[in-house]
Amino acid sequence: MTAPDPLDIALGMPKAELHLHIEGTLEPDLAFSLARRNGIALPYPDEAALRAAYAFDSLQSFLDLYYACADVLRTREDFYDLVLAYLKRAAADKVIHVEIFFDPQTHTARGIPFTTVLEGLEDGLAEGRARYGISGRLILCFLRHLSEDECLACLDEAEPWLDRIHGFGLDSSEKGHPPSKFARLFARCRALGKPVVAHAGEEGPPDYITEALDLLGAVRIDHGVRATDDPAVLARLARDGIPLTVCPLSNTRLCVFEKMSDHSLPRLLAAGAKVTLNSDDPAYFGGYLNANLRAVQEAFRFDTPTWYRLARNSFEASFATDAEKAGWIARLDAYFKSKQAASG
Ligand code: HPA
Ligand code: ZN
Repeated sequence: MTAPDPLDIALGMPKAELHLHIEGTLEPDLAFSLARRNGIALPYPDEAALRAAYAFDSLQSFLDLYYACADVLRTREDFYDLVLAYLKRAAADKVIHVEIFFDPQTHTARGIPFTTVLEGLEDGLAEGRARYGISGRLILCFLRHLSEDECLACLDEAEPWLDRIHGFGLDSSEKGHPPSKFARLFARCRALGKPVVAHAGEEGPPDYITEALDLLGAVRIDHGVRATDDPAVLARLARDGIPLTVCPLSNTRLCVFEKMSDHSLPRLLAAGAKVTLNSDDPAYFGGYLNANLRAVQEAFRFDTPTWYRLARNSFEASFATDAEKAGWIARLDAYFKSKQAASG
């Protein structure tokens, strides 16, 4: 019998997604239908014109469009629809657990109540669990282009809802907004007993990864792909088993790497870093999780054990309970065993 194709195995394997901005799952068709439902105009005449604007040359060029499109999200039902549309696609890619970032400041700044956002997202997660069996958690992300005081005010608003918020993160424009700007904010997050993650080393230098670890207490680094620019930072990540949530299509679409074959992913893996693969803002970057796996495989031709390691990392690096992780890893092992048996 012929050996199964590693890509087919990877596409079908159960996996977790740990770096996913829910606002970045807003597809043009949903954006226009929500705009119509809410009686608002997008700054583009139609879906094709909007899609044509997805030609980014930097993180900021993407963020400008991402925040503009988020304006169509107004009601609890809008956030519910957004989550369910994402979970349907995630289920098709065999995602069984997702940790979803949301940016409350993007919405509260427009007068949308924090509770509208949170309850809509929660409604979507509950329905997604019922329909697709996907487990989901929410991670509140602070916008780093804003001041620390504005972020502290957002944390004040979130405090009554801490039982619904699993952790805290840091996103938006990285360059010029180092983690050190938010040391007080994240000290408060940690004091609340929540895990902290941070985008670092996407466009910013490896020093920002060190700051995220040392000054914010981050236990997982979002992106971190520029760690390869500093061997000491990379060695530390590997030694300490700090997970990296790598988003390959995002990095090529935002010109962090010119092309996929330039991506640092193989160097991160070779150094022993605990890498996971994720889709970041899939509506804007050319595809959901399995599209990222396809693009990676086209460039790097990973073998089956590497794909197993990446899926296993996604569960191990999650914020689920030990019992949940053990159950998912048992499912993963059973899946790989069945593939081996099938290939004789
Ligand atoms: N980087 C920083 N902020 C973001 C991103 C990203 O890739 N996506 C949404 N907000
Ligand atoms: Zn991100």
